[in-house]
Amino acid sequence: MASCPFCRTARRPGWLGLAGWRYDLLSHVSGRVLEIGTRSGANYPYYRADAKVVISDVDATNMGEAIEKFARFPAGMEITLADAQHLPFADDTFDAVVATLVFCSIPDPGKALREISRVLTPNGKLYSIEHMRSRYEPIGLIQDVFHPAWHAVTGGCHLNRHTESIIRAAEFEIVERRTSLGGIFRWLISQPAEKQESSVAFKVLKHHPDPPFPTKTEADPPT
Ligand SMILES: C[S@@+](CC[C@H](N)C(=O)[O-])C[C@H]1O[C@@H](n2cnc3c(N)ncnc32)[C@H](O)[C@@H]1O
Repeated sequence: MASCPFCRTARRPGWLGLAGWRYDLLSHVSGRVLEIGTRSGANYPYYRADAKVVISDVDATNMGEAIEKFARFPAGMEITLADAQHLPFADDTFDAVVATLVFCSIPDPGKALREISRVLTPNGKLYSIEHMRSRYEPIGLIQDVFHPAWHAVTGGCHLNRHTESIIRAAEFEIVERRTSLGGIFRWLISQPAEKQESSVAFKVLKHHPDPPFPTKTEADPPT
């Protein structure tokens, strides 16, 4: 699959300031981590040595470089061929999911986000850097005009996707956010609302078969 010029440039260290963004995004990610759309492994230098990373991509053809890099990783690594829209993992498996420059090319990003939510542990987070439609209308309109040619030439990359809105619509809460180039590039840490510990506690209360607190009747002395 051809890749888009934004994504190619962003893989070069130092370009578009994305090396700094990758460092800030990944240097504190720990536990069991799933990276989707790894391709050549541009994120490899930024992971903590104790992270247990599973790298994955829907297309194995470009993963050779990533496999060589991650083989040197102290905590080892696993490689999986996986479509983000149908992840081959059990519910609540990962503390973090990492997706950098991937949502632009996933055919149904909403479906992938539902899968990411499913495999994240309670309080797990999605760490992403994406290019998307600018929040400035004149730039967004230029992106709309160039999108069809871009999509054809890059083999499926969406130049004008509203990726942050899609993430919010999938009921992820954005907990940290940075933008650059008029909002074309965005650095986002988000969390599925249904996986937040407070909402888990709320669900337990809601589905508790017995009232969790004494009701007035129970507290009354027997007559
Ligand atoms: C532009 S590359 C990004 C590579 C790397 N993550 C980075 O930051 O430079 C996009 C990658 O997403 C992968 N991809 C596209 N659709 C996918 C899907 N449905 N599931 C998993 N990976 C997908 C492509 O095969 C490609 O390797």
